[in-house]
Amino acid sequence: MVLYDPVPMPTRRIALVGGLSAFASSACAASSSTLRVVSSASHRQFGAAIEPQHIEQDADFAGLVQQQCGLLTAENAMKWNQLRPSREQFDFADADRVAAIAGRFKVPMHGHCLVWHEANPDWLASDLSPRNARALLTSHIETVVERYAGKVASWDVVNEAVERNDRRPDGLRKSLWLEALGADYLELAFRAAHAADPKARLALADYGLEYDDEPWMVEKRGTMLILLRNLISRGVPIHVLALQGHLLGDRPAAFGQGLRDFLSAVADLGLEIFITELDVNDQNTPGSATQRDQAVAEIYGRFLDTVLRLPAVKSVVTWGLSDRYTSKSWFAPRADGATVRPLPFDRDLVAKPAVARMLRAFQLAG
Ligand code: XIL
Repeated sequence: MVLYDPVPMPTRRIALVGGLSAFASSACAASSSTLRVVSSASHRQFGAAIEPQHIEQDADFAGLVQQQCGLLTAENAMKWNQLRPSREQFDFADADRVAAIAGRFKVPMHGHCLVWHEANPDWLASDLSPRNARALLTSHIETVVERYAGKVASWDVVNEAVERNDRRPDGLRKSLWLEALGADYLELAFRAAHAADPKARLALADYGLEYDDEPWMVEKRGTMLILLRNLISRGVPIHVLALQGHLLGDRPAAFGQGLRDFLSAVADLGLEIFITELDVNDQNTPGSATQRDQAVAEIYGRFLDTVLRLPAVKSVVTWGLSDRYTSKSWFAPRADGATVRPLPFDRDLVAKPAVARMLRAFQLAG
């Protein structure tokens, strides 16, 4: 939680201008452009996940987000544990704050997420039963999706449905929803979301699909393709595969032919592809901050160079925008106590080398 910093507006403006001029000289000498502009020239959207208080309480950060993002995701505000204090109640306060910010910035939202095995309120695990699960799931999805129709252009309908360690033949994760409803919970969720907002693009989202040199990820790509084919063959309204894109700063950028082939196979099913939670974890990346920033930039660049070769890849959202606000600082802190640097902009809101690499990837993709 960042405390309100009572700097008067003129000083804030100067700070913003200073930050942006550093941005202009370091990252954008060649293009004098932003991720928002360059991505849209490549017929894509660039955006970031945000927490509403960071925008409301930090004008400089808000300025950067508005400048760079053509799409916003609520990092936490649309999860069950935030929306559902009890079985009978909805609390839309934080989600509405994110929607209001998107409205103010005149950008659409990508909704995250309607069904997940994590971030659920305690009452859900104790109350959920095969008898009430169908009604609970569909009424939640209908209420939430209807409320944000026209604002949320696309939804992560089901997040992280595949887990090989659960050892089911279909590869599905043994989540609370699967246990209550069986494998049909996926179909049910997509159909409910589609009925609530027929215009929204509906995604199945997952991690662990990115690296060509990681056997369990290569296997997961196969499982995912079978699952997607199966949903499509049953007429389920699914439009997008969302790759989270949580990348690692301490392993080779193994994003090559395997990833291209996988994404081509997804595109051949008629699906779009969104990158929805991109960041580069530098928890175990060796070197100084400058060296780590170079390594992180290279990974952003190599990943985007690969995925943006596919016209089906329509959006890229980073999980945060600046190292000032990243959940990696508590989920993946460094042993040496140094600040983590997983995002394109640093804690001073200055563009790191990653921004130039990302801009170049969008420009090369055309
Ligand atoms: C994370 C948020 O970044 C944290 O602030 C929160 O405490 C836990 O969730 N995959 C997802 C995201 O789909 O929702 C997660 O976000 C990160 C992993």
